Amino acid sequence: GVTPNIAPSMLSSDFANLSSEAQRILDSGADWLHMDIMDGHFVPNLTIGAPVIESLRKHTSAYLDCHMMVTNPLDYVEALGKAGASGFTFHVETSKDNWQELIESIKSQGMRPGVALNPGTPIGEVYPLVEAEKPVEMVLVMTVEPGFGGQKFIPEMMDKVRILRKRYPSLDIEVDGGLGPSTIDMAASAGANCIVAGSSVFGSSEPAEVISLLRNSVEK
Ligand code: DX5
Ligand code: ZN
Repeated sequence: GVTPNIAPSMLSSDFANLSSEAQRILDSGADWLHMDIMDGHFVPNLTIGAPVIESLRKHTSAYLDCHMMVTNPLDYVEALGKAGASGFTFHVETSKDNWQELIESIKSQGMRPGVALNPGTPIGEVYPLVEAEKPVEMVLVMTVEPGFGGQKFIPEMMDKVRILRKRYPSLDIEVDGGLGPSTIDMAASAGANCIVAGSSVFGSSEPAEVISLLRNSVEK
């Protein structure tokens, strides 16, 4: 099967202590750090950008899984690449006309391209990007409306995950929003292998236990 990647969302961490929060969660067994970059336009919330990624990069060699909730992702590629981002996942809703150029430029900056889709976006919209000559290497299926942590998981999104897993047996499929001990089995059995979890991990007094529970569910 595909390798599990447990990706705690730093959106639920204490942003004023980002490097120690990152270290704490990596010490608890996290594989990736999920970085939610929001522009206050594509989503009604504003978070961080390349300067914060650059600062965090000085403190960790971890995979920085950047989720770009921005209207013009192409404008951020160079800065994110230079800042040391590892993955660059843009939203298909923002990139209907220029996704080929976007994928190329992400790769040329040494980052791994991914595509995300909102709950209301049909799964077929990502097929051309996965089947392209220069393809995305991950699909992020949103399981909440993007913008905020701590929302309720939308189980209907598991149909998208199942369809993707059947069509692409070795693709990295990420789920994001409302994942935790009570929803992980639905996501894992549908075929997701990259698991974003914000409030369930950072809200726990035993994050290592939550991370290992998530990992065990994907592995079984
Ligand atoms: C929502 C973000 C998520 C969010 C997940 O727009 O993309 O990554 O931080 O948080 P939880 O796990 O609390 O739903
Ligand atoms: Zn996210």
